[in-house]
Amino acid sequence: MTAEQLISFARGAPSLDIIDVEGLKAAAARAFDADPAGVTAYGTSVGYVPLRKWIAEKHNVSADQVIVTNGSLQADAFLFNHLVQPGDDVVVEKPTYDRTLLSLQNLGAKVHQVTLQSDGIDVDELRTLLESGVRPKLAHIIPNYQNPAGITLSVSKRRALLALAVEFGFTIFEDDPYVDIRFRGDALPSMLSMDSDNAVVHASSFTKTVCPGVRVGYLVGPAALIDAIAKKATNLYISPGMVSEAIVHQFCVSGDIERSVQTVSTALGERAQVLAESLRKHIPGATFTEPDGGYFLWVDLPDDVDVDKLFPAAMKKGVAVVKGSDFLLEGGNHSLRLAYSAVTVDQIDEGVRRIAAAIEEVRA
Ligand SMILES: Cc1ncc(COP(=O)(O)O)c(C=O)c1O
Repeated sequence: MTAEQLISFARGAPSLDIIDVEGLKAAAARAFDADPAGVTAYGTSVGYVPLRKWIAEKHNVSADQVIVTNGSLQADAFLFNHLVQPGDDVVVEKPTYDRTLLSLQNLGAKVHQVTLQSDGIDVDELRTLLESGVRPKLAHIIPNYQNPAGITLSVSKRRALLALAVEFGFTIFEDDPYVDIRFRGDALPSMLSMDSDNAVVHASSFTKTVCPGVRVGYLVGPAALIDAIAKKATNLYISPGMVSEAIVHQFCVSGDIERSVQTVSTALGERAQVLAESLRKHIPGATFTEPDGGYFLWVDLPDDVDVDKLFPAAMKKGVAVVKGSDFLLEGGNHSLRLAYSAVTVDQIDEGVRRIAAAIEEVRA
């Protein structure tokens, strides 16, 4: 490996070697053969109807509770636009996905970040916030292998959150693109499946299990809400891309998706382990929790390492990272998010060596 070749711990996307390109090509051929009219037409804003049905069955809901979108980021945007007005209070995790922070800020929402503990959001801190009089429209929660912290919300906290949502009348937005990328442990029930009060809207995506290029994600929620969002989606773009949704549909019904999930989970599990070993070896002052799944590992560095200085120094050495401060309204100046999804195993140790060298440089 040459020193010039960039090693990226920045991108939360699967590397090409774990994307089933041949499977997708075959799924595309089957999609055009099986349904040439449906694939090539505009379609409707709820998405490609057979894929919508497959998603509804996966989540054990009726099809009118599902809208399929161009990636889950669009699902997020639809929901935020629908529920949040300028000045509205919203709750997010601390730290949280940087694009969520940006979207909510751009909408003029009053964003409250609530501490993320090793078993998920601090529900006592949230209760204190609610009891102080704050009435959020929604709480955005990434329950499994959280982006950026790699943390999973415990079942007891899922229950506690649902109870708070009912008591204080807010929507839980369960943003769950990483759930299937599990290295160890049992799958936990989604809050969507635990909810009997229409308190949860759930989003997920095929980005992390198939590939980002298909841009297929979705929203599951109460039928009336999905219908209202679908009407706005019609005015915005008539329909999302039928070609890619039909390909994803064929990829799912053939069972290829299960193999793809297995491939990605196995590869990322190994990469996460190698990354943890390299961090222990080369950056002994770093603290982190090894994730049980997902794409990310959050690293806290010693207090004398300023990530604003580290970021450019690391780039100069040919390694890309994301600053912890990108995921927070304030703080995060000594933390990094490392994605192990876009690197191959043989790049990881060298990448961590480069980060270690950059740390020494900025400390000096
Ligand atoms: C928590 C979370 N939500 C949504 C998204 C957007 O994913 P998509 O590619 O489905 O738009 C991401 C992508 O990184 C994410 O981490």
